[in-house]
Amino acid sequence: MAPNTSLLQCCVLVLAYLLSSHSSQALEGNIRDKAWHIVDVKSLLPSSVCSSPTEKGFNRLTIIHWHGPCTPQPTNKKTTAAQILRKDQDRVDSMHQYVKSAKKATIGESLSVSLPAQHGISYGTGNYVVKIGIGTPRKDFSVVFDTGSDLSWIQCKPCKACYSQTDPLFDPTLSSTYSNISCSSTDCTLLNSSSCFNGQCQYEVRYGDNSQTDGVFARDTLTLPPTDTLSNFMFGCGTSNEGLFGETDGLIGLGRNRVSLISQASSKYGAMFSYCLPSNSSFTGYLSIGTNLVPQASFTSMVQKIDSPSFYYINLIALNVGGELLNISSTVFSAGTVIDSGTVITRLPPAAYVKLRDAFQQYMEMYPKAPSFDILDTCYDLSKYPNAYVPTISFVFSDGTILDVDFSGILYVAQESQACLAFAGNSDDSDIGIIGNAQQKTVNVIYDIANQKIGFSYGGCK
Ligand SMILES: *[C@@H]1O[C@H](CO)[C@@H](O)[C@H](O)[C@H]1NC(C)=O
Ligand SMILES: *[C@@H]1O[C@H](CO)[C@@H](O)[C@H](O)[C@H]1NC(C)=O
Ligand SMILES: *[C@@H]1O[C@H](CO)[C@@H](O)[C@H](O)[C@H]1NC(C)=O
Ligand SMILES: *[C@@H]1O[C@H](CO)[C@@H](O)[C@H](O)[C@H]1NC(C)=O
Repeated sequence: MAPNTSLLQCCVLVLAYLLSSHSSQALEGNIRDKAWHIVDVKSLLPSSVCSSPTEKGFNRLTIIHWHGPCTPQPTNKKTTAAQILRKDQDRVDSMHQYVKSAKKATIGESLSVSLPAQHGISYGTGNYVVKIGIGTPRKDFSVVFDTGSDLSWIQCKPCKACYSQTDPLFDPTLSSTYSNISCSSTDCTLLNSSSCFNGQCQYEVRYGDNSQTDGVFARDTLTLPPTDTLSNFMFGCGTSNEGLFGETDGLIGLGRNRVSLISQASSKYGAMFSYCLPSNSSFTGYLSIGTNLVPQASFTSMVQKIDSPSFYYINLIALNVGGELLNISSTVFSAGTVIDSGTVITRLPPAAYVKLRDAFQQYMEMYPKAPSFDILDTCYDLSKYPNAYVPTISFVFSDGTILDVDFSGILYVAQESQACLAFAGNSDDSDIGIIGNAQQKTVNVIYDIANQKIGFSYGGCK
């Protein structure tokens, strides 16, 4: 009897072992799917080949990475990863500064020195551009599109100061549909910093980094390629433009103020726009104006703040790493979070960033560490790991909506030996958080202004 019992015990144990190891493998498999991306590290390096077909469709503009291989720049001036991060910090500083000054102003302090009425936030790296047409006959321009700015502008003749740009300068005298806006027009009052010259309304935008553009506030026909037109579009015809980075032909503002493109276009197309930013610069994305072709998505509330009414705030309350909710008090996010097309790296309140970083480091502990890279302090040497396991990261919003970051938005790879967590902490708890464009890649991001909500759905572009 005894040997039989022990044999039985033995079998039971083996069976139990087999069962447990089997189920733990299954469990592990499950967790892995939610917890990890397997990342081809080389695919995150700067691209050198343009492999994108051009987007076609009604009001669907192609988004091109200005510093990538599909750029329309004739001399593709190389911009280093370090330069991009420096410019990105300029933009974040100017957004923080703007919100701070505006807060002071709303409590009655003078802002005349610190903040020109027509604010412009530093346009940062200006890395995503679209092509638009202005005038009759139409001339095409590659302009930065920016959800953090309102006034659109291009460089115009006659220049007092223009930087060199890719396309010929716009010459208003050659457009049959061009007109100046007069000082007596109510449109001139849409600008807070207008002045008058020969009866014509003049605009002026000073960006946070000492760059500026000024000139005539004008109207002309705007073409959204391929052929759709918006007549009497108001924009700045900039004859004095200085200190601007990137040499794009100008800027299209998609902020919430009445002069922005989306405000001007809403009566014709509906108060909505959407875009998708490509996973790497070999591909292009799209910017779609209006309510046509809007993909299915899950939405979160769009919030407006009185001290920075042009920005698109959303209620970020938590973060997930590897499918697990981080233990962060939601009050940590109380300064507010803006979703922005022009900031590259997501900025989080310091307490939230530390929790994210600590969790990320636990998941990445099998990889050798690498030195910090500018604002990015959590870097790994992945040169011996062509396919690296990287934990998933998601944003959680107050209404339960979740935005899963694409694998291409988790690491910022300066070189294979220095792949860094593509998030950074603010230095001050009271500064707003910003969801940057790196973390929006491949997602359809939908700004439904009519219904005050922002939506996300996946696989919007490659
Ligand atoms: C970008 O995507 C293309 C197409 O998948 C891929 O061939 C390339 O390796 C990626 N990255 C770079 C650095 O080009
Ligand atoms: C627009 O205003 C500018 C500067 O005030 C002036 O030089 C130009 O002739 C005006 N153009 C038209 C079409 O009125
Ligand atoms: C101009 O100022 C008003 C009130 O101060 C503000 O609501 C509006 O957004 C400002 N416009 C611009 C273009 O900054
Ligand atoms: C969450 O964090 C708070 C404060 O840091 C701590 O007191 C609490 O024990 C943590 N909860 C869990 C479940 O770890």
